[in-house]
Amino acid sequence: MYAVKIPYFEEVETDDNTLLPYEKDLQKMIIHEANIMSKISAYPNTGYFLTFYGLYSYKNNPVMVSELFEGYGLYHLLKVNLSEPQLLYISKVIFEQLKYLHDNGFSHGDVHNNNIMYNSTRIVLIDISNYEYDESLSDHINAEIYRTQTKYIKNVSRDILLQKKDIYDAGEVIKELSTYNQASIYDSINIIIQQCMTIDINKRPYADEILKLINSFNQ
Ligand SMILES: Nc1ncnc2c1ncn2[C@@H]1O[C@H](COP(=O)(O)OP(=O)(O)OP(=O)(O)O)[C@@H](O)[C@H]1O
Ligand SMILES: [Mg+2]
Repeated sequence: MYAVKIPYFEEVETDDNTLLPYEKDLQKMIIHEANIMSKISAYPNTGYFLTFYGLYSYKNNPVMVSELFEGYGLYHLLKVNLSEPQLLYISKVIFEQLKYLHDNGFSHGDVHNNNIMYNSTRIVLIDISNYEYDESLSDHINAEIYRTQTKYIKNVSRDILLQKKDIYDAGEVIKELSTYNQASIYDSINIIIQQCMTIDINKRPYADEILKLINSFNQ
């Protein structure tokens, strides 16, 4: 079974039938995502990511075809009281995938609990948009994008900023999963969240450092 991702536009009348800038952005993002997916699919048998089947064109629109994942967004788990081992396991799998992406020169760009799907056998990051942020944005806006403060982003490369944004956002996902329906939070999970959501981007750990932390709690 296949999943097909197409750019979806609201019906907007333009005088000359040209695409609006937003529509062009959507097309660019799908091509960009397909490009990343094609490279990730080339890495053998990890099961971490969806299988990519190709980028096609339909009525001048890019169409990305990948494996249909039969499962739910992690969003569905917000209603569940997850145990400490369950939260550690979910965290471990998310950070293994982020490490894999980052080690191979990619970042996710939009980690949130509906861009992570799960079923009884797999937890998979989807929608790897890694959106090309506009280089001309102000330091203030960039700091917001990378979940830090202006004073911390000087002399940090864009690749590292993007990786660290993923780490922060994954921390937020774990925070949501662990606090939504629970009065108290496990110490181990709290430490992981605090580390991921460190505002000083230079002190915010990389994926492999968070993984080591998670593994230390799993022993
Ligand atoms: N391969 C797939 N198999 C099954 N469901 C999928 C698949 N890809 C996406 N979905 C579902 O469709 C939703 C939207 O897909 P995706 O996140 O890739 O698109 P999007 O337009 O970027 O969405 P959003 O803007 O909401 O993040 C996902 O949250 C997920 O529930
Ligand atoms: Mg999405």
